[in-house]
Amino acid sequence: MNHHDKNNYGSQSITIKAKAPDLGFDPEDCIGAEHGEPCTIVIFGATGDLTARKLVPALFNLYVNDGMPDPFQIVGCGRTNMNELQFKDRMKNALGAINILNHTKWPAFADALRYRSVDYEQPDSFLNLSEFLKDLDKKHGTRGNRIFYLALPPTLYPPVIQMLGQAGLGNERENDNGWSRVVIEKPFGRDLKTAVELNQSVGKYFKEHQVFRIDHYLAKETVQNILMFRFANAIFEPIWNRRYIDHVNILASETLGVEHRAGYYEQAGVIRDMFQNHMMQLLALTAMEAPSQFEPYRVRDEKLKVFRSLRPFPIEKLQEHIVLGQYDRGEIDENPVPAYREEPGINPDSLTPTYAKMKLFIDNWRWQGVPFYLISGKRLVEKITQIVIGFKEVPHTMFRKTLGETIDANRLTLGIYPDEKVTLLFQTKNPGARVCLRSVNMDFSYHQNYTGPVLDAYEKVLIDCMLGDQMLFWRQDSIEHCWSFLTPILNECETCGNRSETLQFYESGSWGPQAVENI
Ligand code: BG6
Repeated sequence: MNHHDKNNYGSQSITIKAKAPDLGFDPEDCIGAEHGEPCTIVIFGATGDLTARKLVPALFNLYVNDGMPDPFQIVGCGRTNMNELQFKDRMKNALGAINILNHTKWPAFADALRYRSVDYEQPDSFLNLSEFLKDLDKKHGTRGNRIFYLALPPTLYPPVIQMLGQAGLGNERENDNGWSRVVIEKPFGRDLKTAVELNQSVGKYFKEHQVFRIDHYLAKETVQNILMFRFANAIFEPIWNRRYIDHVNILASETLGVEHRAGYYEQAGVIRDMFQNHMMQLLALTAMEAPSQFEPYRVRDEKLKVFRSLRPFPIEKLQEHIVLGQYDRGEIDENPVPAYREEPGINPDSLTPTYAKMKLFIDNWRWQGVPFYLISGKRLVEKITQIVIGFKEVPHTMFRKTLGETIDANRLTLGIYPDEKVTLLFQTKNPGARVCLRSVNMDFSYHQNYTGPVLDAYEKVLIDCMLGDQMLFWRQDSIEHCWSFLTPILNECETCGNRSETLQFYESGSWGPQAVENI
């Protein structure tokens, strides 16, 4: 079967109406988080893209929806020299650009915004920052609680962490008053060795409970829903195994190309950019066992067991398990787009993969023999993120005479984007005198019977940092296991010199390289 199919197969749709919930609480209350303790959020890389597009908008939205602690302060830090007013204007424009500027709420939010220029390699800069933060605590009552958000290029993580530690802003302060937390964006290392090294530098100044390694996929509502769906319903778990499941497809296709991130992407490629983090988390949530309690340590323990059970790729038969591709010219939404190698800042002979399909197996009792297909690529025909559980075919078809040999197997789709829904495909009788089957979809749309505000992934991530809840963040042991699983194939593909044979080119706007059907 074509594992790319979006699973509509011309089938008809039945929508399940969510019953008015009788929960003993108002579902609207679920949106509001507990308020964290007063704190200061320090953003390194405050003049960068992430701050303007994601972080400040998320903080502002939280503020507008009463999700911020009271009091709070936000300190933008960057190498650029600018004054506080200029920074505020810049952030105001950023909110305006994405249409979320609320003029009534802006002035009070802007009152809590500060800017400090820092030199990331200068200890004095951090000593000054430390004094500045103490002053803010005194003036605004933020109680010495700090979140340091590293919205920086990964090469700056080690020096900034070291500077923070040496300025006494890391774990030394824990017994003093107030807490410190450090938030680290992906990529956490570029292979096993560098991830271990990075962790060692972090570990010198911060304890594990202070470290928040972000994966924004985990904070998506529909991704969080995977565990609720699996473990808050009794009917799915008994069939969630090798006896009933034929294969699992995890797809994250994108229409975007490399955009303005050539420098980063040339070094990363799709395996580091999407597989080492987001795809592995989707895999773990689909495959893990139920933890005894819904509690960060135990949930992350169960994920780790999945990573430990991944069967290593057979390096000698890699091509039966992995297809790598790079986008060529083509059309997206009927507009011509250039090849990856023609994008600004990209090496014209680049061998960086922008697409990968992997077939992998989990060697444990539940999943023995069930292939998991992980697919992600840029410049594909549609942006879709979904997990499809493909069930086995019926063991015997008594309808063979009238309907032919095969009947479409049941399929359960956990839609993450754009359709935030759960869909079950099954067979029913087509009305009429002749015996005909038709495939129908039973849908639950995630926002059904709900019209309230929705938390963006970055809002959720920031709330959890403020509350000190690490459930939706990577733990170091899992990061290391994923790297040890992926590093051998990265080495094989990147260093053996035959990579140009391994890399298949695909037309932009297609579903990826032809060769994907072979694995
Ligand atoms: C990021 C990757 O982590 O995730 C990007 O660096 C990718 O390359 C993005 O485009 C996809 O995220 P989302 O939420 O749009 O699916």
